[in-house]
Amino acid sequence: MAKLMNLHRAARLVGVTRGALQKKIQDGDLESFDGMITLDELYRAYPDASLENNSVLEQVEQIKEMAFGRRILERSLPDKEVLAARLHDLSKELVEAKALLNHARIMLDGLGHELEAIIVQGGAEAKFAQKLSNWLHAQRMQTPPASDAARALLIRDNFLRVISAQVKILPSGEDFFVEGNDSLLEAALRAGIPLTYGCSNGSCGKCKARVISGEIKQVRPHEYIIPPTLQAQGYALMCSCTAVSDLVIEGEVAQAPSDLPDQFIGGAVRSIEHPTDEIAVIHIKTPPNERLRFLAGQRAVLTLDRSLSAQLSIASCPCEDRHLEFHVRRMHGNLFSDYVFDRLKPGDAVLIRGPLGHFVLNTESQRPIVFLAFCNGFAAVKSLMEHAMALDQAESIHLLWIATKESGLYLPGLARAWADALDNFHYVPIVVGGDLDATASRQENAVARTLGPKLLAIPSLTRSDVYIAGPELAVDAMKKILLGLAVPENQIYVDSD
Ligand code: FES
Repeated sequence: MAKLMNLHRAARLVGVTRGALQKKIQDGDLESFDGMITLDELYRAYPDASLENNSVLEQVEQIKEMAFGRRILERSLPDKEVLAARLHDLSKELVEAKALLNHARIMLDGLGHELEAIIVQGGAEAKFAQKLSNWLHAQRMQTPPASDAARALLIRDNFLRVISAQVKILPSGEDFFVEGNDSLLEAALRAGIPLTYGCSNGSCGKCKARVISGEIKQVRPHEYIIPPTLQAQGYALMCSCTAVSDLVIEGEVAQAPSDLPDQFIGGAVRSIEHPTDEIAVIHIKTPPNERLRFLAGQRAVLTLDRSLSAQLSIASCPCEDRHLEFHVRRMHGNLFSDYVFDRLKPGDAVLIRGPLGHFVLNTESQRPIVFLAFCNGFAAVKSLMEHAMALDQAESIHLLWIATKESGLYLPGLARAWADALDNFHYVPIVVGGDLDATASRQENAVARTLGPKLLAIPSLTRSDVYIAGPELAVDAMKKILLGLAVPENQIYVDSD
């Protein structure tokens, strides 16, 4: 029977995004069976997929070169016991496949002998037996149908199964890979899947989920003890266990902002960077037992010096454990901004309340994505962009970062790095000059004249989900321009200051 694999696994095997595979299926260039793809069909659609292009294999080559340098080994490979268990499972499959093959060979030999006997006896059946015998002989003389390259794909798939495991979550149906010694929680968050959790260090029990099939192993200590009745049903802590084999688990995933609780956390400033004179990037660390659970694109209220508060977009990824990042614009006379630029220092206490807002990715959608960030609206877009990269399901992503002057594009290296790393990502920096925020509402036509052609240059604009973040007037003006360009209103998502 042909080997079937799901889209996520197939995309990883040939080094493309899930969105790209989805597009091929929609265009009729790739056949799928209930969302599954055969290896032969995958190879037919991607005949150029080669082992040399596989980044995971490159990584392993690197490991070999560095004589199994400890740091890289720890990051990319699971521990010895997990590797041994996966190799054992694979060996078992190999033994079973060999036994089946042997059995098939014995049956074919037996069939050949039976046919010979009928031919020797002569009579009416002999003619048919001879024909069948000739066909059987011709088939046995042929080389197996799979080409070397298709076999290489199969080898690569088996290799990936040894160094990582795939986890399917029920009832949501989402799936993710567990690499190295990551816990199941870390791997899920890194893949953009907000599994329910609390402390992330084994003390609260909120991350417990039921393992329906497959084998897990504890890789982090935990204080919380799962009640024996739940243990007997297969419950385990996602923050302290990793996957030994492919798993199916039953667990809660936050699907919308309303699924997340209000949280108040006391954190501390870890560092403050000033990429330009106009922007402060604040890095905040939460206490060891507390994490802010949020969805990419959401906001939080920061309170400094016990009384100065501001609501800001969270620029970091929800997967970044105890680290939170915020971008603050210099606004002379604004007490919060002045405090950040003039007095805030590493180690200062910060009260964080959140998460807030509904500016999150529509994860149900497989439409192309367009991000429009005005000035430090980039903070929310950065978080969404990282989420979109982790989900890997958009056919294409365009980022237009718009500022009134060059320095307003304050992290250009990051956007360019995304463009270098991702085939389906396109970055367009735009400097419009003047005070866009102030003139947007009065001179909408002028704004449309400046930005309209850049938007029209995006081939998939009208069938894209468009996310706009930045100052309110600029965001409102942009929304009107998009509606004027026939982008459906239900595909436009906005976040404004
Ligand atoms: S998140 Fe608290 S025990 Fe896992």
